[in-house]
Amino acid sequence: MRHLLGTTDLSREDAILLLDTAAQMAATQEREVRKLPTLRGKTVVNLFFEDSTRTRISFEAAAKRLSADVINFSAKGSSVSKGESLKDTALTLQAMGADAVVVRHWASGAAYQLAHGGWLHGSVLNAGDGTHQHPTQALLDAFTARRHLVADPTGQGLDGLTVAIVGDVLHSRVARSNVHLLNTLGAHVVLVAPPTLVPVGIEPWPCTVVHTLDQAIETYDIDALMMLRVQRERMSGGGDAFFPSPAEYSRIYGLDADRMNRLPDHAIVMHPGPMNRGLEISAEAADSPRSVIVEQVANGVAVRMAALYLLLAGEEGAQ
Ligand code: CP
Repeated sequence: MRHLLGTTDLSREDAILLLDTAAQMAATQEREVRKLPTLRGKTVVNLFFEDSTRTRISFEAAAKRLSADVINFSAKGSSVSKGESLKDTALTLQAMGADAVVVRHWASGAAYQLAHGGWLHGSVLNAGDGTHQHPTQALLDAFTARRHLVADPTGQGLDGLTVAIVGDVLHSRVARSNVHLLNTLGAHVVLVAPPTLVPVGIEPWPCTVVHTLDQAIETYDIDALMMLRVQRERMSGGGDAFFPSPAEYSRIYGLDADRMNRLPDHAIVMHPGPMNRGLEISAEAADSPRSVIVEQVANGVAVRMAALYLLLAGEEGAQ
């Protein structure tokens, strides 16, 4: 593996290797071996053209815990605001000796362009591109679900589990990445969304689609319920075109205490963050004992350590 651009090109073997390596990384962190020497001498650039809290900070923490040098680049305040292109930005990073570039961009396909444009010699890790892919988010979601729902998880996928992903699928790179990864790992994925927030051309996706959360809860034995953020900033008219209305959305798709209590006892509640509390999820659900939302954030560091390790250390690091 040279790049991590999406989940559609991840084999089951690669996905399980990433999850098992993340488990080893998490174990080092739990033993308070905070810093490993594995990537000493390597340079990781965080190239963020779009806002981020969790992904940017956890990639930085992951690279530092592997002893890499980290350069943080935010488009705001850089020469991008003077019109510099992605190509020239990439060539500048290459001149600075980047071994890996972690990129978040508003344009779907930007990570692929960066990886295959011939401008960089190192690895590219997609930290979210437009509405396309967010592979490390899907990996940390799978890692979290596996920890909670699979006994003796090492070497295992998510076979036989049912994961419901609820909400604004149309604008969600998290949903796209998760549908494919969860399917690769053997889970049944149920997408729950209003017809207006389901992507055109969804038919080949390996999942079932239903249109109310109550129908999903009544029909399926849900093991993990993943709520999506309503991405009003990606809706035309700055959110004016939001359909259904926020009140209607919350009534039909929102996770409240009543719906949460109708899930199987073992089911976990997930959300990639940031959350719109009171819209797609109530505070009671977000803060309940079933919620693994904070744990997802913590697991993001171990998963990103694993991704950087496997891409940059390779054979040398595996010894
Ligand atoms: N889940 C996620 O990508 O969060 P950030 O936008 O804060 O990175």
